[in-house]
Amino acid sequence: MNILVIGTGYVGTTTAIVFAELGWHVTGLDTDAQKIDQLKQGKLYFYEPGLEELLNKHLQSHQMGFTTDKVKAIQENDVIFICVGTPSHADGSADLKYIKQVTEDIGQIMNGYKLVITKSTVPVGTQEQVVAWIQAAQLKSHPFDTASNPEFLREGKALQDAMNPDRIVIGSNSDRATNMIQTLYQSVKCPIIVTTPKTAEMIKYASNAFLATKISYMNELARLCDPLGVNIKEVAEGMGLDPRIGLSFLQAGIGYGGSCFPKDVSALIQAAKTNHIELHVLEKVVYVNQTQHLWLLSKARERLGDLANKKIAILGLAFKPDTDDIRESPSIRLIESLISEKADVYVYDPVASLPANSHFKSIKCCKDMDEAIDGADALFLCTEWSVFERIDWAEMKAAMNQPNIFDGRNVLDAGKMKDIGYFYQGVGYS
Ligand code: UGA
Repeated sequence: MNILVIGTGYVGTTTAIVFAELGWHVTGLDTDAQKIDQLKQGKLYFYEPGLEELLNKHLQSHQMGFTTDKVKAIQENDVIFICVGTPSHADGSADLKYIKQVTEDIGQIMNGYKLVITKSTVPVGTQEQVVAWIQAAQLKSHPFDTASNPEFLREGKALQDAMNPDRIVIGSNSDRATNMIQTLYQSVKCPIIVTTPKTAEMIKYASNAFLATKISYMNELARLCDPLGVNIKEVAEGMGLDPRIGLSFLQAGIGYGGSCFPKDVSALIQAAKTNHIELHVLEKVVYVNQTQHLWLLSKARERLGDLANKKIAILGLAFKPDTDDIRESPSIRLIESLISEKADVYVYDPVASLPANSHFKSIKCCKDMDEAIDGADALFLCTEWSVFERIDWAEMKAAMNQPNIFDGRNVLDAGKMKDIGYFYQGVGYS
């Protein structure tokens, strides 16, 4: 089986590289010629540990290639993964225009049997629309099957997650399609869930929404732990050792970000509204997340008073470490609030950068940590890059105007910081 991956964004590129690593011949297709040229030269346009090496390995062995020629790509490959983006409409619902476009292309161009698998995160019921769009676009009738095969990989850990998944979910009404997908993944060892397309689509949304719920639950609880003098990190450990709860995704902080949780939670809430159902829990999950940075900011105001003209250092822009992705990053939400309070904001991130956008023109982007911290009245740690945990904090203290640390990720040792002479405030941890 030859695989075509349509959409060479984050998920598409990773999927293509991983299937090449699993031994299949893979072609990546995109309308963006610049992106395709870059990938052909073995260059990733996003930061993801370990992926570029594999890209080059498989380009050199001709196990994979990239193209903008959709006719040739669709005709020469029998298995097609759809990995295009599903951005949000203004009301939070998922916009399926790219899915519609590629399925219509497939319908028009296909010249024989095709298995069309949706990996993009799509609302429940999309698979039925995919079938209808392909059928409506077909110039001549050709057989095809469809399936939903949601992706569960995390940015920054894409390779590890894609090569060693916790589970593979196959949603299809066709035995032939299910068998073909099982063959594609035959060398991956993990449980395989075979279900209906709608259930597969829901498993993806439900998983992301549940993880977001865990985080907002801990974040809200952390606000209560603060006045009570309780350490949320110890609470998380005490809770998480119960296997029914689990230790992961219990880290309190300034909130979740990224291209998935915020978008998928909103899309699920909108899907419920369309069905005249309110997802009260998820609505509050969003509320807590959108206000979490404001809680930390209020702590800074308690300590420093008016923030206007105070020099504030922000360490970390990315929504989490090991990625350059700043989409929906809580760090950006915090920076926007600081701009409106007229603070002097200095930012540093080892990999990510702010968009060249007039909105951020008052922000100083620093080449290193020292520049950001020098003369600062407060420092906010917003992304837990490991390099920040290795800082010589005693030396940094001497460089600051006022030694105030607001640790939005609870990664520094509060006791050590206080011993050095810092005022230290974490999120439910101080
Ligand atoms: C998430 C899911 O974890 C993946 O399983 C899924 O495939 C992906 O979305 C997707 O739908 O494509 P990702 O957005 O890459 O992956 O990042 P996560 O590692 O899940 O982190 C999301 C956010 O939650 C980050 O801002 C992180 O800092 C925050 N977080 C995570 C916490 O605040 N506390 C935690 O305990 C864990």
